[in-house]
Amino acid sequence: MNKVTNAGTAGRQKLGHKRPADFDRFWFGAAYYPEHWNEATRCRDPERMAAAGFNMVRMAEFAWALMEPVEGTFDFTLFDDTIARLGEKGIKTLLCTPTAAPPRWLTRQHPDTLRVNADGVALAHGSRQQCCHASPVFRKHSRRITQAMADHFRGNRHVVGWQTDNEFHCHFSECHCPSCQRGFQEFLRGKFKGDIGALNQAWGTIFWSLTYASFEEIATPRPGKPTFTNPAHELDYHRYLSDAVTRFQHDQVEILRTANPQWWLTHNGLFSHIDYRGAFSEDLNVLGYDSYPMFCYDPVERPARHAFCLDRARAWTGNFIIPEMQSGPGGQASFFQDHPEPGELRKMTYAAVARGADALLYFRWRSCRFGAEEYWCGILDHDDRPRRRFDEVQRVGMEMKRIGPAILGTHVAVEVGIAAADAAVNAAHQTLSFGLPGADDVTASVHQAFYERGYAVGLVHPADDLAGVKLYVVPHWEMFDPAWVPALERYVREGGVLVVGARTASRNLDNNVVPETVPGCLRELAGVTVEEYGRQNLPGLRPLVIKVGGQGVTTQHWYEGLRLDKGTLPLAKWASRHVKGQAAVSFRRVGKGAVVYVGSYLTPELTKLLLPVLVKQARLKPQWPSCPEGVEVVQRQAGARRVWFFINHRDTVAVLSKLPRGQNLLTGKRAPVRGKLAARDVLVLEEK
Ligand code: GAL
Repeated sequence: MNKVTNAGTAGRQKLGHKRPADFDRFWFGAAYYPEHWNEATRCRDPERMAAAGFNMVRMAEFAWALMEPVEGTFDFTLFDDTIARLGEKGIKTLLCTPTAAPPRWLTRQHPDTLRVNADGVALAHGSRQQCCHASPVFRKHSRRITQAMADHFRGNRHVVGWQTDNEFHCHFSECHCPSCQRGFQEFLRGKFKGDIGALNQAWGTIFWSLTYASFEEIATPRPGKPTFTNPAHELDYHRYLSDAVTRFQHDQVEILRTANPQWWLTHNGLFSHIDYRGAFSEDLNVLGYDSYPMFCYDPVERPARHAFCLDRARAWTGNFIIPEMQSGPGGQASFFQDHPEPGELRKMTYAAVARGADALLYFRWRSCRFGAEEYWCGILDHDDRPRRRFDEVQRVGMEMKRIGPAILGTHVAVEVGIAAADAAVNAAHQTLSFGLPGADDVTASVHQAFYERGYAVGLVHPADDLAGVKLYVVPHWEMFDPAWVPALERYVREGGVLVVGARTASRNLDNNVVPETVPGCLRELAGVTVEEYGRQNLPGLRPLVIKVGGQGVTTQHWYEGLRLDKGTLPLAKWASRHVKGQAAVSFRRVGKGAVVYVGSYLTPELTKLLLPVLVKQARLKPQWPSCPEGVEVVQRQAGARRVWFFINHRDTVAVLSKLPRGQNLLTGKRAPVRGKLAARDVLVLEEK
């Protein structure tokens, strides 16, 4: 009998990077499309899936036209049969609402449900995600199909959970249709409590005579038409987009929770203009992250990039489900990724589990022979023959039965935290990027520097739990909420080392420049003021150099000349041109900790230069100091429980001269004290 522990949102742990998923087992399987195959193939599948260790498949996210071929006429036979056959083999179903692929009859009858791009052109039927989440007509149809599915499947004991829609905002997040004009106005009316004067003030609409007399006058912003738009207007539009999709999802959530409170709910992200830390995820039991590491074409860089993406996913709400994990090369119109080499799928899977996946489904069971993704390869090839990818998945499936119980309930240990997971901060950067790298780009390179040296690096939002984090880096968050400062100050006073990158806290939550001297709300804590700043467009021509000890680095992108408060020390000075002699990096002891302010962009070179000082100040040690380069080490923990992952990303054998004492979870035997890890092999052990 299936016991699902998630039952609605009541009593669940607060969203945060340490939150584990509330699952009673490790769900393992694949996305499955029975509608692509004939009956004979469908009948063969469950047995093979069970042989691969599956206990779950995900289905139906693109099957609306099949389930409701004509408005109001429903036919769920194919899924009834498939779910039953899978159930006989012990495989449960994660169903999806099919709203990412609206049927033709819907958009024919209601062309007003189509999204409209910034040029005023309506999107078309012919691919997917063409309908607007704010359209009342589309919302009505979304509720209808969700209700019909919920009513039909509510008593089916093999259906244990639901995924809402599929990858909201994956292809397109903006919309300028008439429903969005009204929706945006309503959103603003709510935000400014009906006071148009407050909006004019917050947006600074006196500039360029943009002043509005009523909310009805406001339209969605269209940058470049004719020219630059107001960044405050744009930021609120991005907030509106998140709000609209959250409401759209909430319609479905309400129906599903009412139909069966035992179902657990998820959604597969992660895409722009959705605030996954907010109401969107509070509506779910667990957030999903679709993981496609092969999008990074460089095999040497790939593990670091993958680790970064997983850590970024975890930063939003905690441990996650991977509803789609790459299971082969993917190809679409203009690209075809490399084929993962033998062992690569397995080690990518372990990297995902190590860094917070509490459930994992591959995309997809079998490559489809037609449609826009006919070359997006699944576990099985087009000809339905199991080959090495199947063998590898099967091996993982068997292993997960042993590892799953040990990792559920644990969270990933983080000692170096980098600020991430704020939708508004990301959007604020986009609106006024000046061509500078985004927070994510810098975060990725800072993350990589610590990852490659074996530190327990992760991404953590400034309002999240920083206990255990010894070093915390806020890269370049132009927009910064003063409400986050008291907790950061406490963090520092209690011994944390806080690093603040250039431009941080220079804009307020309306996306306007702060009235105080920069770094605004962090000025006092950092003990610096930025006296001069500038963009470095061609840094090679007029090089600005930062020196620490005898070593120098030519900065990129941006420079700031700092004035230090009494008690703040220069950790590094500018060593060239007109800023020569001015402080470039500051250091201020606060309580038991310290604050470092960096007056330039944290490029890989500058990060490398500063890293030894930061490591020393924060008393950091690599996660498992004797580990050779190229072996990723991650620890998941809960109370005194410690599960270690050693993942050899090299193409050669790695010698582990010392290992934590405990049980090898892959073999069930006592782990050796030292040993060899074959190329692309993994070791998972529970410390005892
Ligand atoms: C995901 C999507 C899937 C499939 C896959 C491969 O983004 O959810 O439906 O398109 O990528 O491209």
